[in-house]
Amino acid sequence: MTPEEYLDEHEKQRLDQLIELLKFPSISARSEHNKDIQACAEWLVDHLNSIGIESKIYPTAAHPAVFGSKISSPDKLTVLYYGHYDVQPVEPLDLWHSPPFEPVIKDGRIIARGATDDKGQLMTHVKALEAYMKTGTELPINIKMIFEGDEESGAEALGDFVKNNAELLKADIIVVSDSSQFGKDQPAVTYGLRGIASVEVKITGPDHDLHSGSYGGSVPNPINVLSKIIAGMHDDNGRILIDGFYENVIPITDWEREQFTKLPFARDEFLAEVGSRELHGEKGYSIYEQLWSRPTLDVNGITGGYQGEGGKTIIPSWTSAKITMRLVPNQTPDEILEKFESYFRKICPDYVDCEINIHGGAAAVVVPTDGPWLEAAGKAIKRGFEVDPVFIKEGGSIPVVGTFKNVLGLDTLLLGWGQHDDNAHSPNERFSIDDFERGCYSALALIDELSKVKA
Ligand code: BES
Ligand code: MN
Ligand code: MN
Repeated sequence: MTPEEYLDEHEKQRLDQLIELLKFPSISARSEHNKDIQACAEWLVDHLNSIGIESKIYPTAAHPAVFGSKISSPDKLTVLYYGHYDVQPVEPLDLWHSPPFEPVIKDGRIIARGATDDKGQLMTHVKALEAYMKTGTELPINIKMIFEGDEESGAEALGDFVKNNAELLKADIIVVSDSSQFGKDQPAVTYGLRGIASVEVKITGPDHDLHSGSYGGSVPNPINVLSKIIAGMHDDNGRILIDGFYENVIPITDWEREQFTKLPFARDEFLAEVGSRELHGEKGYSIYEQLWSRPTLDVNGITGGYQGEGGKTIIPSWTSAKITMRLVPNQTPDEILEKFESYFRKICPDYVDCEINIHGGAAAVVVPTDGPWLEAAGKAIKRGFEVDPVFIKEGGSIPVVGTFKNVLGLDTLLLGWGQHDDNAHSPNERFSIDDFERGCYSALALIDELSKVKA
């Protein structure tokens, strides 16, 4: 049997296996799920071992990584596959139509937390490799696989793991499926991701909550103060006012502008997808430029004061906000976090206390568009989807990809099988079975196409 025939014959089996994997509540942000993370990692190790990829768990400073390999000849190229088996928290639970860790199939989609991000996508490569192993077909490449358990909560531990295990991870190219297609039936090769820098700020005024009638008007209100600071982070054109924020930003090239202009943009569909009345972004840039090649600053959450039912007339003692900035080449997280901190301290009035907690970040990545690797990826996608892929970038971040480049000197092929409306990080996350299937066939073709590259 050929590997392709094997894929044809095992569709039901691989879907059942994906369902099994999706049942683990491997939420990395929550320590009460540490056992589930461990169990999920063990399932993956057993699964890889069962198909002939020798694997084990590697502890890291945070959640364990799963590493497996099948090296058959020093003359073959070595491909390192990366994916993450941890998932985002599931709240708000009441908006799910079915429990997040009890996968159901509806309208040709599998619904569960992690379906598209990233368990469903990482499985496509496992299943493609299995098709080779189980049919006794010689793999034309050496393969290594690393699956992370911390991607959704910062990924710092894996960064250190990569630095300490450069030899173990040595390869010629990296493959990651943890992003999206351009649209329905329009697959893409992604040649860039934005980076990220995250920070939490806290402002304290009076040392306890005060009656807002007895004291209001005479003392600083930390929420009023923070709101003014946040409002002062952008000008009316959507530009970020942090001193030097754009200093290292590489302007969009003519080539890139031309690529983005070729891509269709359906405004109404986009508005329907996000459920917003209007678009709002940095003036002077098209939507794809805003999403993929321009940096941002967003407040992800803000808390403080009274948030319960009814009212409570107080001047709150404190308030805090979680803020992330999306970065583009050549901004670095350290540089941007430092600039953020100086700016924040500069505009924060001295009659309140301000505390800044830096959470770290990851640099943006770009993959050279003119080498043999992207060409091979394009051909594989064409074989799996029967459609020519388009070239895109993405606005999200996969922290370790920058580390792969900086520490191992390796480029990453970003082949996303998901869709933007798969509800990643949101209630009712889903993955179309069609996309899963075409991902498997593309992953299979990729093995063949990569083996032909003269590195
Ligand atoms: N799979 C995403 C990254 C992604 C999102 C790529 C959208 C392309 C498009 C990944 O799991 C993710 O969510 N990353 C986080 C990283 C953060 C927690 C450090 C992100 O981008 O917010
Ligand atoms: Mn992901
Ligand atoms: Mn994610």
